[in-house]
Amino acid sequence: MGLLEGKVAIITGSGGGIGREHALLFAREGAKVVVNDLGSDRHGGGKGAEMAEKVVAEIKAAGGDAVANYDSVATREGADGLVWSALNKFGKFDIVVNNAGILRDKTLLNMSEQDFDLVIDVHLRGTFLVTQAAGRVFKVQAKGGRIVNTTSLSGLLGNFGQGNYAAAKGGIYSLTRTAAMEFQRMGVTVNALAPVALTRMTQDLQMFKGMTAEQIGPQYIAPVAAFLASDLAAGITGEIVGVQGGKIFLYKMVETAGVTRDAPWQAAEIKERWGEISR
Ligand code: NAI
Repeated sequence: MGLLEGKVAIITGSGGGIGREHALLFAREGAKVVVNDLGSDRHGGGKGAEMAEKVVAEIKAAGGDAVANYDSVATREGADGLVWSALNKFGKFDIVVNNAGILRDKTLLNMSEQDFDLVIDVHLRGTFLVTQAAGRVFKVQAKGGRIVNTTSLSGLLGNFGQGNYAAAKGGIYSLTRTAAMEFQRMGVTVNALAPVALTRMTQDLQMFKGMTAEQIGPQYIAPVAAFLASDLAAGITGEIVGVQGGKIFLYKMVETAGVTRDAPWQAAEIKERWGEISR
């Protein structure tokens, strides 16, 4: 029996890249999959049905079950439509993977408001809208559930030229932590992946020069998503799981021991003790 037998999974942005790999693996593991993809280019321009339909055809050709959905996760209507298409086709869902994304890289001084807003809308607002729409259904279904979000190294540590993307992904980190707390009473776990994989989004990056899809492709990411989406991950929530090729690890927020006393500190004293504060 497959790891996800009997489950229904919504996977956003699964017409290509990492999401496609999630969809194919989830289906191989027995899940029925809603393959959502707007069909845009990597900067969020254009749209089309082809990307999602191709993945659905691949799943069906391999004997699985899937339905395509072309809604944008960045709008309320899109997020609701996505959730409804799962309920319409399969009558329920158990798993949501928030994976859709775009890039509009610019340094802060050169970034237009539109470049900032669009990236925030797809990543952060999209994750919020789909999580909220799905959470309301999970509450009514009363059978628990799994949400797997997608953050990034860039959002956790910052990255030159990605102020919009880093802010969006940092927001997804905080949203994941908060949703994990709020959804605990419903038996819904909420975790996030911080992947590194060679896809159309990252193919120009210097760090991938000379590397092949075999070495660092999305096939390394999907099994971690499948694990977090499965019954094996019961009790694991609020975690940020890094995956870089064959390496799997957790990101943790660090609080230093710092310095303490019962009275306010003076600026000059803070300067003096900075070594201890930052250690
Ligand atoms: P990708 O560009 O291949 O996949 C993103 C998919 O989302 C595309 O198929 C696109 O059509 C779809 N999409 C875009 N806007 C959408 C919208 N409004 N509604 C629905 N679908 C939409 O890129 P990749 O690399 O597979 O990225 C997947 C996720 O992983 C993204 O959230 C990305 O930010 C994240 N990520 C990827 C990293 C990598 O190294 N590839 C690193 C860190 C994070």
